[in-house]
Order: sequence, then C-alpha cells, then structure tokens
Amino acid sequence: MSHPSWVMISMLTELLTSQSGGMGKPSGECANDTEIISALPSQPYNTHYLPSHPTHVRVDMWVQAVTAVSELTQDFEIDLYINEFWEDPNMAFDYMNPCRHNISFDNDMLTKLWIPNTCFINSKTAKIHESPFKNVFLMVFSNGTLWTNYRMKLTGPCDMHLEKFPFDKQRCSLTFES
Ligand SMILES: *[C@@H]1O[C@H](CO)[C@@H](O)[C@H](O)[C@H]1NC(C)=O
Ligand SMILES: *[C@@H]1O[C@H](CO)[C@@H](O)[C@H](O)[C@H]1NC(C)=O
Ligand SMILES: *[C@@H]1O[C@H](CO)[C@@H](O)[C@H](O)[C@H]1NC(C)=O
Repeated sequence: MSHPSWVMISMLTELLTSQSGGMGKPSGECANDTEIISALPSQPYNTHYLPSHPTHVRVDMWVQAVTAVSELTQDFEIDLYINEFWEDPNMAFDYMNPCRHNISFDNDMLTKLWIPNTCFINSKTAKIHESPFKNVFLMVFSNGTLWTNYRMKLTGPCDMHLEKFPFDKQRCSLTFES
C-alpha cells in the first residue's frame, strides 16, 4: 500500500520545481547576462531621485601615495583609491533567477543611475585616472547593492608654518562631502 505516498511525493516535487522556476523560466534555467543587462534598471528611472529613503553610502578610501608637498604653492598632491557601496532596489535582479550574482558595468551605466556625487570640496584640482579611458569600476550585485571603485589624483591646500623650518609641523586637509 505505498501508492498514496508516492503520489504525495511526486506532487510535492512538482510543486517545488514550479516554484523555483519563477518568472516564466523553465526550472533549472537561469537568466544570462544579456537578458539581465537589458532589463536594468527595472523601473523608469530618474537620476535625480534617491533610490531609497534614506540611502546609506559606505565609503572606503585608501591612500596610495602622497606624491608632492610644496612650500611654494602651499599644497600637496595625493593619489587615492575610493570605494563606494549603496543599495539601489531598481538594480536588483535576484527575481530573474540569474546565472551569476554579480555583473560589472562600464561608465555608460553609471550615467543612467543615481550616484552619491561625492567630492572634495576644498581641493584645488581633482582628477579621476584615465588610462586611456576613465577608470571607474561598477559592480551590481543581484540583491541591488552597487559598488564603485576609482582612483583619484588630488591637490589639496596646506596651511604652512615655516617659522622653525624644517622643524615645523604642517597640516594639510581635504574635506569630503556628498
Ligand atoms: C541569453 O538568453 C536569451 C533568451 O533565453 C537568448 O536568446 C540569448 O541568445 C542568450 N544570450 C547568450 C549570450 O547566451
Ligand atoms: C562575482 O561572482 C563570481 C562568480 O560568478 C565570484 O567568483 C566572485 O567572487 C564574485 N565577486 C564578488 C566581488 O563577489
Ligand atoms: C548584497 O550582497 C552583497 C554581496 O554579496 C553583500 O555584501 C550585501 O551585504 C548584500 N546586501 C544586503 C542588503 O543584503
């Protein structure tokens, strides 16, 4: 009399596979990059609106080098790596049953999105490295987390005191804002 339990099991597996299929894809098949990229961003998008309220942006930066300090022009030059992370629900693609859970994009995609627009408000010059193209890396995770990474060369002011040269302490500062 094992017949009824067999029926139960096969019904259950059918139910499970039809659920995991989602979005009309046959079960076991996943959405390739081309399909995902053409579906993003998923809503009509306005770059002037915050993607979520509030939008938290995590910023990591590290100093690659301080390449120059000049008494003459009272400034310094610095190379920085900057990482920024934030959530944009319009860029999530979990629901598509993707083959991969991260996709990297070029600069074109960034121009279509809200970005934190962080800047060094007191820098004399600031430049994103180009060699030969603008080196901005954008990775989108399937849960809607965005990650950008770029390298900057900056010139910032130093308020120099030279009374006890060369034993004075110099302060050089950069102010970072969105
Ligand atoms: C991605 O999937 C679509 C639809 O399933 C298919 O037409 C297309 O050829 C695939 N592209 C690649 C690069 O595999
Ligand atoms: C992106 O996905 C690949 C597998 O598709 C994985 O090997 C890699 O570690 C992921 N990268 C990040 C930064 O999560
Ligand atoms: C989304 O995925 C990334 C990469 O796996 C992870 O670092 C991040 O914490 C996730 N975000 C949320 C809100 O779960």
